[in-house]
Amino acid sequence: MRISVNGLSARHRAASATAAPALQPLSFEIAAGEQVAIIGPSGAGKTTLLFALACALKPMAGSLRLDDTDPWGLPVPRLQKLRGRLLLAPQTPPLPPRQRVITSVLAARLPNQSLAASLRSLIYPTHIAEAEAALARFDLASKLWDRVDRLSGGERQRVGLARTLVSGASLWLVDEPLSSLDPSRAALAIESLTQAARERSATLITTLHQVDVATRFPRVIGLREGHLHFDLPSREVTHERLAALYAQHEHELTGAPPVDVTPTGEAAPAVLYCR
Ligand SMILES: Nc1ncnc2c1ncn2[C@@H]1O[C@H](COP(=O)(O)OP(=O)(O)OP(=O)(O)O)[C@@H](O)[C@H]1O
Ligand SMILES: [Mg+2]
Repeated sequence: MRISVNGLSARHRAASATAAPALQPLSFEIAAGEQVAIIGPSGAGKTTLLFALACALKPMAGSLRLDDTDPWGLPVPRLQKLRGRLLLAPQTPPLPPRQRVITSVLAARLPNQSLAASLRSLIYPTHIAEAEAALARFDLASKLWDRVDRLSGGERQRVGLARTLVSGASLWLVDEPLSSLDPSRAALAIESLTQAARERSATLITTLHQVDVATRFPRVIGLREGHLHFDLPSREVTHERLAALYAQHEHELTGAPPVDVTPTGEAAPAVLYCR
């Protein structure tokens, strides 16, 4: 799916009227099948931007076009149909506790499935092999029939990522996919996600706090205080640019010295947490 954002600003419904909009006017284009990482300090507006792109938050001003269509100009049934082509994977997937993993994974198919097929799948899951294959890519195939509330936080997060693969969506919006994962599972998860998006020609946009992972994406968008701080091919995301993106926030938030945001290099640990 192709994305065009022009002067888009957005404010959360619950935000106070005096607070600055979470997204200040932003403009960028993302081509179909592109893979983009969004980074920036906590509170920069990364999640809000994913919500706006998922048509879950209406812009205050400016425009959003998805495959040359203005979603907010569509009648509700067509907007719902378009939403079926978008998959927002939240940082903590809302998985019903008593549900089995297989049901949770296959629930991602529902928006693009007929009512009859959805009802049939309530009685007995269809597409079992597809769900198992998606889970296997996150080293979770053995949990296919387990209950969701018996999984660890990291396992739940990986179930959320497996849902993306079966969704049939053409725009994947993934919020901090690695936040509960250990370094080796994080590496597998990002490899599986990017590879699967390529296989399905899906556009992949993911927010990340791990700068070294983000700079392995072809393109990196840096957000700060709701503004586009940079939008660059990853080879141009220099140490200086990263330092400017995250400048002072570590002092403000924790009193700790600024983190090392070296994008690559031997001295950098495998995964950098910049919160
Ligand atoms: N539901 C909400 N209601 C009101 N304001 C919100 C809501 N969610 C986020 N905000 C505000 O919008 C701004 C951007 O928040 P957002 O969650 O997009 O940041 P983020 O970059 O994703 O941060 P993090 O790295 O901590 O996830 C912040 O100032 C935040 O306080
Ligand atoms: Mg966020």
